[in-house]
Amino acid sequence: MSTPSLLILPGDGIGPEVMAEVRRIIDWYGTKRDLSFDVSEDLVGGAAYDVHGAPLSDDTMAKAQDVDAVLLGAVGGPKYDSLDFSVKPERGLLRLRKEMDLFANLRPAQCFDALADFSSLKTEVVSGLDIMIVRELTSGVYFGEPRGIFEEGNERVGINTQRYTESEIERVARNAFELAMKRDRKLCSMEKANVMESGVLWREVVTRVGADYPEVELSHMYADAGAMQLTRWPKQFDVIVTDNLFGDMLSDLAAMLTGSLGMLPSASLGAPMANGRPKALYEPVHGSAPDIAGQGKANPIACILSFAMALRYSFDQGDEASRLEAAVERVLAAGHRTADLLGEEGRAPLSTSEMGDAILAELDASL
Ligand code: NAD
Ligand code: IPM
Ligand code: MN
Repeated sequence: MSTPSLLILPGDGIGPEVMAEVRRIIDWYGTKRDLSFDVSEDLVGGAAYDVHGAPLSDDTMAKAQDVDAVLLGAVGGPKYDSLDFSVKPERGLLRLRKEMDLFANLRPAQCFDALADFSSLKTEVVSGLDIMIVRELTSGVYFGEPRGIFEEGNERVGINTQRYTESEIERVARNAFELAMKRDRKLCSMEKANVMESGVLWREVVTRVGADYPEVELSHMYADAGAMQLTRWPKQFDVIVTDNLFGDMLSDLAAMLTGSLGMLPSASLGAPMANGRPKALYEPVHGSAPDIAGQGKANPIACILSFAMALRYSFDQGDEASRLEAAVERVLAAGHRTADLLGEEGRAPLSTSEMGDAILAELDASL
C-alpha cells in the first residue's frame, strides 16, 4: 500500500499552535508505530490571504482534492474582520467544505471522567456523556441563493436563504442512521418544522429514510427545544442529525457539556473515494481564539482528537485512534490541564506544548 497522504492547513490564530502538537504526534506514529504519512503543509484563511490575496488558492484547493485527508487548524481573526466578504478567512474553509462536498460533519461530544466536575453543568448531568452530532455541512442557509446585501427603497436589506433538496437531506440522514446503528441505535432529528418549510421537508425525508433502519429509534425535536434538552439532560441523546446552522450552534453548546471548546474534534466526510474511504477534512470545532493566540495557552486536545478521527475514518487505524484517545484520557486523569480546563482554580496551567509533551509521554507508556 502506498504511504497515505495528509494535507495540513494550520490557518490562523491558535491554529498553527495546536497543529504543531499534532505534527509531533504524527512524527511519533512514524518512528514508534511504523505508521508514516506523506505530509504536506499549506496556507488557508488569513494566512493565505496575506500571501495570495485569497483565503484559499486554487493550487491548495487542488491539493486538498488529491490527498487522503486534510487536517485544518482554525481560520479567522480580528485583523481580517473588515475584509470584503468574498475574501474573508472563513470563506476559505467554506470553499473546502463545498468543493470537496463534505456533507456530513461528525461532531462527537464526549465527557471525559476527569472533566465531569469541570463542566458548567452538574456532574451527574454530564458524567459518561457520549453523543454524536451530525451536522449537514454543504447546504442550508450557509450556501442558499439569493444572498447578499441589497438596496431596497431607501434602506438596505441583508438576505440569506435556507434551502434544502430532498437528496441533500437524504444523504446526511442516511449517514446519521448508519452511525446510530454502530452506537446505541437512537437518532434524534432537529429542525423547526413548526415555522420553516425546509424543516417540514427535513422531517419528512428523515422519517422516510428511517424506514430502512427499523432497529433505530427515531425521534424529532424542534431545534430550540433540542437546545433546552441538551442542557437539561443531554444523556437522553445518542446521535443527533440537524442542518448546517442549527448544527453549528448546537455543537458549540455541546462543547461546553464536555468542559471546554478546546476539547471537541470533528470530521467532515463526503462521498467515498476510489480507495473506498470518504473524502475527508478533520478540524477542531473551535476557532482561532484571537483572545489567547500567540501566548502558548491553547488546548491542543481538540486538534489532536481530530487527528485520531482521521486515523479511524480515513486511515483504517481504529486501534491507533483508540491508543491516542486513551493517552488523552490518561493525561486528563493524571490532572494535567491547560488554562481553559482550570477555570478559576489557582494552580498553574500547562502550556500548549507541555500538554503535547504529556500526551506523547502517555503514548510512549502505551507501547
Ligand atoms: P473561538 O472558538 O475562536 O473562541 C471562543 C472562546 O473559546 C475564546 O474565549 C477562546 O479563547 C476559547 N477557545 C477556543 N478554542 C480554544 C482552545 N483550543 N483552547 C483554549 N481555549 C479555546 O470562537 P470566536 O472567538 O467566536 O471566533 C474567533 C474567530 O475564529 C472568528 O474569526 C471565527 O470566524 C473563527 N472561527 C473559525 C472556526 C474554524 O476555523 N473552524 C470555528 C469557529 C470560529
Ligand atoms: C465552525 C465555524 C465555521 C462555521 C465558520 C468559521 C465558517 O463556526 O466550523 O463551527 O460556521 O461553520
Ligand atoms: Mn461554529
